[in-house]
Amino acid sequence: MTRPAFAEQFREVMSGVCTPVSVVTALDGTRPHGTTVSAFASLSMDPPMVLVSLDRTSDLLAAVRRAGRFGLNVLERRQAELAKRFARKGMAKFDGVTWELEDDLPRLAGSSGWVACTVEKFIEGGDHVVALGLVEAADSRPLAPLTYHARTFGTHARTDG
Ligand SMILES: Cc1cc2nc3c(=O)[nH]c(=O)nc-3n(C[C@H](O)[C@H](O)[C@H](O)COP(=O)(O)O)c2cc1C
Repeated sequence: MTRPAFAEQFREVMSGVCTPVSVVTALDGTRPHGTTVSAFASLSMDPPMVLVSLDRTSDLLAAVRRAGRFGLNVLERRQAELAKRFARKGMAKFDGVTWELEDDLPRLAGSSGWVACTVEKFIEGGDHVVALGLVEAADSRPLAPLTYHARTFGTHARTDG
């Protein structure tokens, strides 16, 4: 298989993996910054830790490196427009968005989950950087999740009874 064909196969496999959707935020001085991320996961219970994987070219990654902290806003089913907005580049992503400072990090209104972290370590991984975050605060609301699968947004549906 040629390299482009192999890369395409890999992309197709990954597009078939259903992921949660979150907006990772950081405070850059006094300015909030945020980016839509599907590559996050729970990492450890003792101590509580999460990981997020960010493209090397991400402006949010630069802000997280400066601040040493990040917030994870787990999106709920009706927040697809917010996910699209924070998947763009630039400084205007927070324009018209309702948010507040919580644990000294930008928290988006209406999200189903909130995790505030201090970065323990950055790990290089190809063209991405994985930030390991030590969880300092967590909060959740029982809302249906926003999911991403086959390049479309959706939610979870129960199939076991
Ligand atoms: C559903 C979805 C999931 C995404 N997941 C990631 C991700 O896990 N990591 C990442 O670096 N970018 C991810 N992106 C792309 C970023 O949101 C996008 O490149 C953004 O413009 C980066 O902005 P920044 O440079 O301000 O950080 C995702 C985009 C979408 C729509």
